[in-house]
Amino acid sequence: MTIEATLIPGDGIGPEIIDATTRVLAALGAPFTWDVQQAGIAGIAAHGSPLPNETLDSIRRTRLALKGPLTTPVGGGFKSVNVALRQEFSLFANVRPARTLIPGGRFDDIDIVLVRENLEGFYAALEHYIPVGDDAQAIAMSAGFNSRAECRRIITFAFEYALANGRRKVTIVHKANILKILTGLFLQVGRDVAQDYAGRVEMDERIVDACAMQLVMNPWQFDVIVTTNLFGDILSDLLAGLVGGLGLAPGANIGEHAAIFEAVHGSAPDIAGQGSANPLAVIGAAAMMLDHVGCIDLAARLREAVRLTLCVDAVRTRDLNGEATTEAFTNALLRRIEA
Ligand code: NAI
Ligand code: MG
Repeated sequence: MTIEATLIPGDGIGPEIIDATTRVLAALGAPFTWDVQQAGIAGIAAHGSPLPNETLDSIRRTRLALKGPLTTPVGGGFKSVNVALRQEFSLFANVRPARTLIPGGRFDDIDIVLVRENLEGFYAALEHYIPVGDDAQAIAMSAGFNSRAECRRIITFAFEYALANGRRKVTIVHKANILKILTGLFLQVGRDVAQDYAGRVEMDERIVDACAMQLVMNPWQFDVIVTTNLFGDILSDLLAGLVGGLGLAPGANIGEHAAIFEAVHGSAPDIAGQGSANPLAVIGAAAMMLDHVGCIDLAARLREAVRLTLCVDAVRTRDLNGEATTEAFTNALLRRIEA
């Protein structure tokens, strides 16, 4: 059995860590065959567009993609390609697990899954300037929106995820005390959905700023977190920090008809081309992709090989205070997979 999937190497460190990941998947005997396509700066270079039609057509066909990070220039006329991809394929759920891989860090035994609404909120970025006097950009305006339907879909997804993965609690994170309508609707729908799961999955709620503090003070009280788009973006980097940084944090963008797997981190231009990037965030995303297509055993084997490489062989990249290059780390992981 083979499964065709789109492979987007991406920008910056993308090609280096995607290359490491496909080597690892091949050694595992994963069923994927890759249709390699470009996006981001690489898409502009190849086809004159950050999101070429070739790439969209490929994902329309395969409905499954593994992607490296894409550079989005700040400001200017560029819409984020990542956001555009999520919109194009209605990838409404962004699942970002944070699990301790290396014991003895600042926080031990962390195991939290953040479920982020991926299509609405302030990521709508409905923005404009209001001129005052001779200042054309005197006031910056932004509007966000949350729909009842999408709130229901993402919160239901979080509770179903909890049930399917043997988790006990879902915490709804909001700012309904201030954004009474925008995030009040999210909370209201959350309370409603939670009733359908009463006795099966516990429900809890937090205001986002308090949640940020409590994630640092006592992260063990959290299990599954569900929240709106921007809060989810911010809290998922916080969660990555609890477990050793962005180099370890994978994510999945899930829709009803397609799924795209990627790291939480970006293209890391500061270390691109140096061969020092940690490939584990994308490799973790590949493990989620294996779970997604039902290759649970391969995903478990991959995670165990990662654990042995990090914790028994103590081979680690620079971001984890190790000395291994991307290449050396990947070779060490391949030895564990082939053992
Ligand atoms: P970033 O995540 O690329 O980098 C933040 C810091 O973490 C940097 O110091 C970087 O060296 C380090 N880092 C990230 N990944 C690492 C890895 N695998 N191994 C070792 N160190 C790693 O965030 P930044 O610099 O804010 O964004 C750079 C570009 O990436 C921007 O254009 C941004 O829009 C884009 N971006 C793309 C995302 C995506 O494709 N899903 C997500 C986040 C940002
Ligand atoms: Mg982010």
